[in-house]
Amino acid sequence: MTEKEELESMCKRRGYIWQSSEIYGGEAGFYDYGHLGSQLLDNWKREWKNYFLSLDDNYHLIQTPNIHPYRVLDASGHVDHFSDVMVRCEQCGSSFRGDHLIEEETGESAEWMDKEEIGGKIKELGLSCPDCGGPFSDPEDFNMMFGLDLGPTGEKKGFLRPETAQSVYINFRREFRALRKKMPLGLATIGSAFRNEISPRQGVFRMREFRQAEMQIFFVPEIHEEIFEERYEMIKDTKVKVKRVDQDEAVEIKLGEIEDLPPFYLYHLGKMYEFYTKVMGLSFEEVRFRELSEDEKAFYNKIHFDLEIDLDTLGGWEEISGLHYRSDYDLKQHQEESNTKLSIPTEEGRKIPHVIELSFGVDRNVWALLDRGFKNGDRTWLDLPVKLTPRQVAVFPLVRKDGLPEKSRDIYESLNRDFRAHWEKSGSIGKRYARNDEVGTRYCVTVDYDTMEDDSVTIRDIETTEQIRVPVNDLTMILRRLIEREKSFEQYMEEQD
Ligand code: GAP
Repeated sequence: MTEKEELESMCKRRGYIWQSSEIYGGEAGFYDYGHLGSQLLDNWKREWKNYFLSLDDNYHLIQTPNIHPYRVLDASGHVDHFSDVMVRCEQCGSSFRGDHLIEEETGESAEWMDKEEIGGKIKELGLSCPDCGGPFSDPEDFNMMFGLDLGPTGEKKGFLRPETAQSVYINFRREFRALRKKMPLGLATIGSAFRNEISPRQGVFRMREFRQAEMQIFFVPEIHEEIFEERYEMIKDTKVKVKRVDQDEAVEIKLGEIEDLPPFYLYHLGKMYEFYTKVMGLSFEEVRFRELSEDEKAFYNKIHFDLEIDLDTLGGWEEISGLHYRSDYDLKQHQEESNTKLSIPTEEGRKIPHVIELSFGVDRNVWALLDRGFKNGDRTWLDLPVKLTPRQVAVFPLVRKDGLPEKSRDIYESLNRDFRAHWEKSGSIGKRYARNDEVGTRYCVTVDYDTMEDDSVTIRDIETTEQIRVPVNDLTMILRRLIEREKSFEQYMEEQD
């Protein structure tokens, strides 16, 4: 089995992720999260909120519906522009994204090509249907939004939202007033987005229903630049890895050395990088920002870098999230279409705020955690950060007799109040360790015969498989210190020697 197949198999067997409607043969582009997957998803969302909402007192979370009326997505440009180029096989009827067919053949991005260019390139490369070898139809633009009839008569049209961002723009005016007109204003939302992807073949990487966590920061550049400049000054020595449009390779560089990007953009670039290294526990080398070329980026994005992670299961660097400077495009569009003033009063007259968008695909982030964490050498184990892992601690009895199960159950119940704990007694102790290693349980606590004598237990660390022996009375305190990284497992081990 390939690395990807091994990980997918674990995800299915153990309760992380699998294809939706499985018992009916599954449906491409839809995935279900099981009991462990849901917990990981929730943990990621919580840490994302903790991190990004704390960047400023005036950053807040809002909740909005998944459906937008037609006019919202017409104003945003999605009705006219949110399409991919599709080609169909004239023999078997399968559909493909034209740019993906070219990318698979040439290894180079073709996302920027329009349908004429894609048609020409497919002919030049002599491509035929990967499923049956048949010839392709002429390429056509395919709008990826799912359209809906609202109400029983169907005269009102709507769409499932293709991004969460628009939900925030249409609420800007209301929140600006509710928050006493304070700027900069950050509005985040976490929710589902829907895209009728033409050929979703990359697991949770390309879904038809997925989740986004997006933060829209509203500001007026000439007025609020200074606020971001001060924040940028504090982190400008931070190193990041960046691949500019004109570079073949990413280079390590201090934020302060990137002279052609504004401080408000660099500040958020640094903060996103920090989220991946500090919160998601990735190493500096595993993460990079890639600048998109004029052809690749959406027409309304003035500056656009994608954050990419080097993924084994997808064969290299893949987009996980993005930092988009969308200028005043969105509020201008909605002001015009809704006929509602979305400008704000300033000393220099009314101004339409600009937006910098921090955009994250939640499912891609979760998959990146699983991909980077999955270790499948001599031993299979899942290296998830302890704040994110669905199971922080498992408690077992060494044997299923002599009061050990009851004692371990008591300990589990007390730990479960403070941590995400798990208890099991079936199978041998070796099998229980292996099962918990596979799903990323960070610490395993074992109750043995010594426990019954001196009220002490062992704690085993998933990474090293080393154990320390600690009094039951200190267990909560020690686990808390380990989880909060106040003390390392190695330090506890040294103290025991
Ligand atoms: N509001 C901006 C926006 O939606 P995007 O680059 O189209 O920008 C943002 O999407 C993020 O959403 C991507 O970086 C990716 O993580 C995630 N995403 C996009 N399409 C996806 C899909 N079909 N399946 C899973 N995640 C997707």
